[in-house]
Amino acid sequence: MVFNNIWKYPKHRLMTIQLVNKTRIMLTYQYLINMGKINLWKGLSVLIFIVAFYTTCTKDSDLNPTNNSSEIFILKDKASFNIGVAVKTNLLSDTAYANTLRKNFNQITAEYEMKMETIWQSSASYSFTKADELVDYALQNEIQVHGHALVWYKSFPVWFKNAKYDSAAFEEKVKEYITTVVTRYKGKVISWDVVNEIFDDYGGLRVDETVYATFHDPIAFYGRCFQYTRNADPQAKLFYNDYSVVISGPKRYAIKQMVERFNNEGYPIDGLGDQFHYKVSTDKMLMKSGMKDMAATGLLVHISELDIVVNVDKSDSYVFTSTEAQKQADTYQAVAEMFEELPQEQKFAITIWGITDKYTWLTGWWHPKEYPLLFDSNYQKKESYNGFLKGLN
Ligand code: XIL
Repeated sequence: MVFNNIWKYPKHRLMTIQLVNKTRIMLTYQYLINMGKINLWKGLSVLIFIVAFYTTCTKDSDLNPTNNSSEIFILKDKASFNIGVAVKTNLLSDTAYANTLRKNFNQITAEYEMKMETIWQSSASYSFTKADELVDYALQNEIQVHGHALVWYKSFPVWFKNAKYDSAAFEEKVKEYITTVVTRYKGKVISWDVVNEIFDDYGGLRVDETVYATFHDPIAFYGRCFQYTRNADPQAKLFYNDYSVVISGPKRYAIKQMVERFNNEGYPIDGLGDQFHYKVSTDKMLMKSGMKDMAATGLLVHISELDIVVNVDKSDSYVFTSTEAQKQADTYQAVAEMFEELPQEQKFAITIWGITDKYTWLTGWWHPKEYPLLFDSNYQKKESYNGFLKGLN
């Protein structure tokens, strides 16, 4: 796993390649001298070559973005795990948006383009236009893609709900959907939220939704959804994703019980995601102990949709002052620090739920005066960015 990490993360890979190349050249040089294959003059030209080669290597900006200090100021360059962000394809034509994405992040999640209601147009037709656009863009720019989300009660299309399938037909259709989508992106999407938000805030299964009412044993159905995903792409990492996992004991307990059952009954699962839609006022100690408990499963951990609400009272007269910005920076720092405390091989990624405060779902869903992200509306780094960076090892 540690070895995998070296090859997965560009910063480590570059350092490793440099080290290997440097060592290899020195050994070759030594060997040629020992064998009497080169004399002093040839030796000198080899040395000049080594110096020139090494200088070229260390100029690479992946290692040191500023080129004049050893401090790293870019999130994706500093982190030893992927730094993801939620993206909307229609914003990629905005140059500032696209530049900020490419410079700071090395993984993306589609904010809505890979959800069931976007892709599954009718019983017999799929629309992959937007999802393809996003995946192609990512691959062209050496960005990894996390798939979100295969089975989510909020995203079942209206036509599907209206069909009123019995449990056998329901499962057959969902199996077909999972297989079609995951096969299409096999080898391109590195991981999937297979199932999203099946537990309520008290740890009970959501049974109120019509889509869940069909199954006598819904957990077994979800287990089979994980299996269908694994069958379609054996390499992809498979996640269960939910909100409030680290702060709600009952929900976390229910999730851990499900993981235990999956392990006992042979259903595949690789990781757990907590969305991390929290606030500056959220209890940091609670978050930290909850995260540790989440990691006690031994699974990968994904902070999958991070944003931090500042206007906690939903006040119409709210002003995002420098004091508020600092509180938010402290929270981002604390989140990065608690994630860093996990065993290295369990740190999957931290994904921010949007690039800029200009386009955040929270101005609609929470309050118009909300500033939850790392870049302001003009794509300037906020204090939250610096706090987050500081929290990384
Ligand atoms: C939200 C998106 O941000 C919105 O643009 C969309 O309209 C609705 O969904 N939990 C999830 C995400 O798993 O998919 C949700 O994203 C936010 C809550």
